[in-house]
Amino acid sequence: MLEFAHFDRRRYPTVSVREGYREWLPSYETTVEDEMDLVLLDALESVPWAAVERAADLGCGTGRTGAWLRARGVARLDGLDMTPERLAIARRREIYDRLVEADIASGALEGGLYDLVTTCLVDEHLRDLRPLYREVSRLIRPGGRHVLIGYHPHFIMTAGMPTHFDRSPGEAVAIETYVHLLGDHVTAARAAGLSLIEMRERLVDDRWIVLKPRWEQYRHHPVSFAMVWQKA
Ligand SMILES: C[S@@+](CC[C@H](N)C(=O)[O-])C[C@H]1O[C@@H](n2cnc3c(N)ncnc32)[C@H](O)[C@@H]1O
Repeated sequence: MLEFAHFDRRRYPTVSVREGYREWLPSYETTVEDEMDLVLLDALESVPWAAVERAADLGCGTGRTGAWLRARGVARLDGLDMTPERLAIARRREIYDRLVEADIASGALEGGLYDLVTTCLVDEHLRDLRPLYREVSRLIRPGGRHVLIGYHPHFIMTAGMPTHFDRSPGEAVAIETYVHLLGDHVTAARAAGLSLIEMRERLVDDRWIVLKPRWEQYRHHPVSFAMVWQKA
């Protein structure tokens, strides 16, 4: 893990994950761009979504990822998140069979049950990736998949920009962010018995520049990534 402070160009005040995601709640769904994560999920070829009987969505938040999974035909879905206010919104969507308030690494869900585990836009908030991958490996049945979508470490380092939201117009607040190199993911996942079967990176392109004209300076840089892991 690299400290984000080495790269910080914004110097926003920083709050904890729990505090930040509670406070960001009212504007979250209109701020997070589908280009970041859902476009990458759409691009994946190694996950037979409609054949997934049972999935767990770790860091499910308000249920954006869950809604995408159910629309692709995932039959049963459990969600887990540490921010109760977000789980309340997810519950209202009526797409999860079970929602659990817990830390990702706490072992709150039953092991060996899941065909698929998703972790979308969560890993940059974890100090250490190893407990995440160990827990994912415990949850998945043999042959099952883990899809992780992340904020790209290259972008965090180049732009010096943490995950953040506006508390009020012009008052940005950062949520505790860590930098994990792609090699850190590989090392942690392989140590947990997972093999990489697909990886994609989303670059800043015309569609992004329309959404964020000030990102012209980052054109062609990777901003997010997707990894699909399989348990032997
Ligand atoms: C950017 S949101 C992503 C939510 C959803 N996957 C999506 O794509 O919209 C990150 C979520 O991860 C949750 N989170 C972060 N660290 C966590 C941890 N250690 N355990 C459980 N939830 C965590 C936060 O509460 C937040 O709801």
